[in-house]
Amino acid sequence: MTKRPAVGDKQERGQDVQAMFASIAPRYDLLNRVLSLGVDRGWRRAAAQEALALSPARVLDVATGTADFALELKTRAPQAEVVGSDFVPEMLAIGRQKAAARHLQVSLEEGDALNLPYPDGSFDAVTCAFGFRNFADYERGLSEFWRVLAPGGRAVILEFPPPGPGLFGAAFRFYFQHLLPRIGGLVSGNAAAYTYLPASVLAFPDPQRLERLMQATGFRTRHRLLTFGIAAIHVGDKL
Ligand SMILES: C[S@@+](CC[C@H](N)C(=O)[O-])C[C@H]1O[C@@H](n2cnc3c(N)ncnc32)[C@H](O)[C@@H]1O
Repeated sequence: MTKRPAVGDKQERGQDVQAMFASIAPRYDLLNRVLSLGVDRGWRRAAAQEALALSPARVLDVATGTADFALELKTRAPQAEVVGSDFVPEMLAIGRQKAAARHLQVSLEEGDALNLPYPDGSFDAVTCAFGFRNFADYERGLSEFWRVLAPGGRAVILEFPPPGPGLFGAAFRFYFQHLLPRIGGLVSGNAAAYTYLPASVLAFPDPQRLERLMQATGFRTRHRLLTFGIAAIHVGDKL
């Protein structure tokens, strides 16, 4: 079993996140559907609409994992060149099988989001679905998104903000902290990974703070909450 990713040292955290996703890769898609009760599909559709609104010719899906979001993008914009990048080969391998089964041409490539292996200005849109929270350095991730975007390009981040106050927030917190780790641990055989998930969400910046980080990078930003604030779409335009 892998250990729960460290939160301190950046290099160690990156390596722990890599090991964790390598171990849960075979069950990742199934768990996504079960733990979100299928709602994640609608969130991805809404985020894809934002990413494709400016008709990008080249799209980079960072932390693409098993390529669900990259495939959603390619399905909606068959004319666009879609590249998915991730630093866990086991996740990418599953994504390639899915792309082949659906006859969708996406290029799935190994790469670290904090040091993207692409030249400046090489994409018109950069997307990241449920990957950003795992980065060891958010500012560095954002500055890489900015660097590989062409002027006029758009970054779209789909994430789980920390649950808000109130009854729904409390109920969701309970689900996240007590039920999700048990279901995730049982199905994946990796209990550590599914205690890491709620811990990483609770430690993640709230939407206002993430927006300020994006603005500090240079993006013009907006965000909207989905499903009572369980998920959030952040849009950053490089004007
Ligand atoms: C929760 S999964 C999300 C995968 C996919 N985007 C989706 O929507 O299902 C998070 C992914 O982020 C990747 N990841 C985390 N940190 C990364 C980094 N620094 N560089 C590249 N990939 C990273 C992990 O390998 C994992 O595949």
